[in-house]
Amino acid sequence: TEYVTLDPGFVNTASCQSNITYIDGDAGVLRYRGYPIEQLAEHSTFAEVSYLLINGELPTPAQLEDFTARINRHTILHEDLKRFFDGFPRDAHPMPVLSSAVSTLSTFYQDSLNPKDAAQVELSTFRLLAKLPTIAAYAYSKSTGRPMLYPDNSKGLVENFLRMTFGWPAEPYEPDPEMVKALDLLFVLHADHEQNCSTSTVRMVGSSGANLFASVSAGIHALSGPAHGGANSAVLEMLEAIHRGDDDADSFMAKVKDKRDGVRLMGFGHRVYKNYDPRAAIVKKTADRVLARADNPLLDIAKRLEEIALQDDYFVQRKLYPNVDFYTGLIYQAMGFPTRMFTVLFALGRLPGWIAQWREGVTDPNMKINRPRQVYTGSAERQYVPFAER
Ligand code: CMC
Repeated sequence: TEYVTLDPGFVNTASCQSNITYIDGDAGVLRYRGYPIEQLAEHSTFAEVSYLLINGELPTPAQLEDFTARINRHTILHEDLKRFFDGFPRDAHPMPVLSSAVSTLSTFYQDSLNPKDAAQVELSTFRLLAKLPTIAAYAYSKSTGRPMLYPDNSKGLVENFLRMTFGWPAEPYEPDPEMVKALDLLFVLHADHEQNCSTSTVRMVGSSGANLFASVSAGIHALSGPAHGGANSAVLEMLEAIHRGDDDADSFMAKVKDKRDGVRLMGFGHRVYKNYDPRAAIVKKTADRVLARADNPLLDIAKRLEEIALQDDYFVQRKLYPNVDFYTGLIYQAMGFPTRMFTVLFALGRLPGWIAQWREGVTDPNMKINRPRQVYTGSAERQYVPFAER
């Protein structure tokens, strides 16, 4: 007889071998290609980290220049693809708009769909890195009714994204350099996280031979859920509800601990980190810096919730600590993004990781189509009962 192991949620099952990202959940360690996240956060940039994740090594200055120039060549969207945004309702959530537009890229760029052709994979990589920020900015424009601006390829990726998001045609928008730096840092922190739900989805779709655009589009959908990337907007909604007085911090925490209505402390807990999330530590410092300029009652509530949680047996016993999403929403809000855009920002940051992992998967000589087994619990064989006799 066949032996099948049941492991719901893949708590103990590795789906692949990978040399991209290392996590030690007990020690709170995260490294991209061997480099500690703290060093990358301090010294590197999102463009450099994207190169590192995808190519395996830090770029030389010439390599980084070439990489950036190649991205800049592809930032513009086909005019027909721009019209695609018109079809969505005005109040469409930007996450499905993002994934739909990425899916559509496979109809516009049919010359870069073959996962077995290295040159085509390279081309789809640059197209995706270049176009996702433009698509994200247009998803935002759609919801606000603003005109869609063309990318300005003399700007860096983050600056360009902010310009397209918040600018007007007659009024060039110059983002605050501090804000550009903070968003670039947040993208670095989100850039990869080994086999999380969305990345596993990207690899799984890729394992069937589907192209990069299709695989990343699926990953964006996986990211949208509140247990994953959607947590960053859920945290803000939670803080706002407490601020409005729907609950105070203590009664909200009591509800969480009683597991009433399935309420969770959003932005807390992690499948792998059981000590602390090293990204959260860096984000908290950034939040303090970015939010220092003004009083922020939501930051005070967040700190109060964290303080209660870190001293409470419920959280201590279950090893629940703030994760990367706990403070990011507050920073995004201070930057002027509406709550619905937060998970889109997560997707922009995670893109190089998805690409690197997909490329590793499709070139892995041991790669097989991902096809989990199951343990069947339904009825034994039974006989069909004719319609009239039921
Ligand atoms: N608030 C209250 N209780 C929690 C929480 C929480 N945020 N997270 C876990 N628990 C409890 C859970 O009820 C369970 O208790 P018990 O042992 O009594 O049944 C125990 O802790 C273990 O939880 P689990 O659901 O088995 O753990 P998991 O590894 O399957 O889930 C998680 C990890 C991140 C989905 C979960 O902690 C969670 O739902 N957190 C809130 C959502 C969130 O912040 N997600 C972002 C994750 S980090 C970035 C990302 O991936 O996007």
